[in-house]
Amino acid sequence: MAKKNKVTINYNGDSKTYTTRNRLGFQALCAKEDTPIEYDCRDSDCGICIFRVLEGEQNLSAAEEKERDYLKALHADDNERLACQCRILGDVTVLVEY
Ligand code: FES
Repeated sequence: MAKKNKVTINYNGDSKTYTTRNRLGFQALCAKEDTPIEYDCRDSDCGICIFRVLEGEQNLSAAEEKERDYLKALHADDNERLACQCRILGDVTVLVEY
């Protein structure tokens, strides 16, 4: 049986948990489910999809150079990531703050 992961998204005082296939990207999850995460460029170039990882940071794919560079330019905190660049490798809890 294929591994499933739980993704909990906190937003505006609400919390919702989704079950995903292992290695699914956040973009694919958000295409399938109604989530508060927004996308525009989908290429580490606008920052609209940023979230804060509350738990399970190790369960996201590692940031590639372009994402790291963009987050650095934003002066993002260490636990902030761009949803458009993340694959889900295990259970994770995030906070969307816009
Ligand atoms: S959608 Fe633009 S940085 Fe993720």
